[in-house]
Amino acid sequence: MKRIDHENRVGVLFVCLGNICRSPMAEAVFRHRVIKAQLQELITIDSAGTGNWHTGKPPHEGTRRILDQYGISYEGQKARQVAGDDFTRFDYIVAMDGQNEQDLRTLASRADARIIKLMDLVPESLLKDVPDPYYTGNFEEVYDLLTAGCSALLELIRREKGL
Ligand code: 4NP
Repeated sequence: MKRIDHENRVGVLFVCLGNICRSPMAEAVFRHRVIKAQLQELITIDSAGTGNWHTGKPPHEGTRRILDQYGISYEGQKARQVAGDDFTRFDYIVAMDGQNEQDLRTLASRADARIIKLMDLVPESLLKDVPDPYYTGNFEEVYDLLTAGCSALLELIRREKGL
């Protein structure tokens, strides 16, 4: 049996503003992909918000409804704020929009922290920010963008980490 070295796990953290709508959906969608690819022993996935208003709360009802519709688990997911050690614990810190990305760069204590804006990985996408459904109410649009973004992210990680 292949021995898995847990020291070498790849860490992926999705970040939005409130950690109840977009980044928990991204976390769930990406974990679903990773499990399908049988890479769950090698990739650690989490999400957080730049704000702290919703700490401890489960994903927003709109996010839960979409994930239920597509049979994607969000079990155990609870909102939390980005912490200082996230920048050393995670290899890929993935922002949902330009404001999240800017806030993360301000918070990052480590110059080489890898901060990516998800939709920058999808060249054919006209939208480069994932619109906030807390304000738009459009969770389906978010799901469509995240599925494309998560596929591109998994490809990038597989290529860069040789998985
Ligand atoms: P999210 O959406 O960043 O996608 O989780 C938001 C959720 C809550 C708030 C803002 C955005 N809020 O201001 O409470």
